[in-house]
Amino acid sequence: MEDKNPKMEDRRGEENHSPIFSSKLEKLQGLSDEYSGRWEKCWEQGDTGWDLGQPTPVLLQLLEKETLPKGRVLVPGCGAGHDVVAIANPERYVVGLDISETGIKRAREISSSSPSAKYFEFIEADFFTWRPTEIFDLIFDYTGLLHVADVNMELYRFFCAIEPRMRASWGTRMHELLKPDGELITLMYPTNDRDGGPPFKVSVADFEEVLHPWGFKAISIIDNELAVGKRKGNEKLGRWKRCL
Ligand SMILES: C[S@@+](CC[C@H](N)C(=O)[O-])C[C@H]1O[C@@H](n2cnc3c(N)ncnc32)[C@H](O)[C@@H]1O
Repeated sequence: MEDKNPKMEDRRGEENHSPIFSSKLEKLQGLSDEYSGRWEKCWEQGDTGWDLGQPTPVLLQLLEKETLPKGRVLVPGCGAGHDVVAIANPERYVVGLDISETGIKRAREISSSSPSAKYFEFIEADFFTWRPTEIFDLIFDYTGLLHVADVNMELYRFFCAIEPRMRASWGTRMHELLKPDGELITLMYPTNDRDGGPPFKVSVADFEEVLHPWGFKAISIIDNELAVGKRKGNEKLGRWKRCL
């Protein structure tokens, strides 16, 4: 898939050989490594309090109701992969993507004897740079990747002094990775007012801001009644259609 931001490409071309650009690139690489290293550390140290140890209950309910698109499914930031295995069947081929080597190793271990093993795979890659050979009919996002996008935004801000379109990097990726008419499911947490973080508060408007420009329309946004523990009352389920 092509980078849809010609300005970015132009800048890359222009500044490619300047020493300033090289030093910025080095710094950028450093920040990026630091960012992925933080997730890797969580996995290595077993600091994975987000892991329910089972598929997300509301996902199971959606699967039971049979309202989800069939075909190719992406679970970005899949962690231990419980949701990947739950979705996989002869009608849905699922790719679980995670930036952490240890996370992916764990997911492969847990799922190695699954009867649906031929309907899923785990790939270690960064959601923001990964280039799949084929795009998807359904994306299930339960990651707080908007925060990830914020981190990336800082990188890009540093890179090209606030290119406004890069603010939508998370939304851009969803648009690039989803087929027209495909569905994106987002579990949005925490949506309550809280001090400090992480995780930091998100609102439905935050998601709309980055999805609307890419032609995503909300089919439904509801409270997730099946949210677990502290997430109950603070989590929303969003179903979005890619209409452009
Ligand atoms: C909060 S955990 C959620 C894991 C899983 N979805 C769950 O609900 O159990 C976020 C996961 O996203 C992964 N991750 C973070 N940034 C990523 C990126 N840019 N690309 C791919 N995976 C990423 C982390 O390694 C981590 O496993």
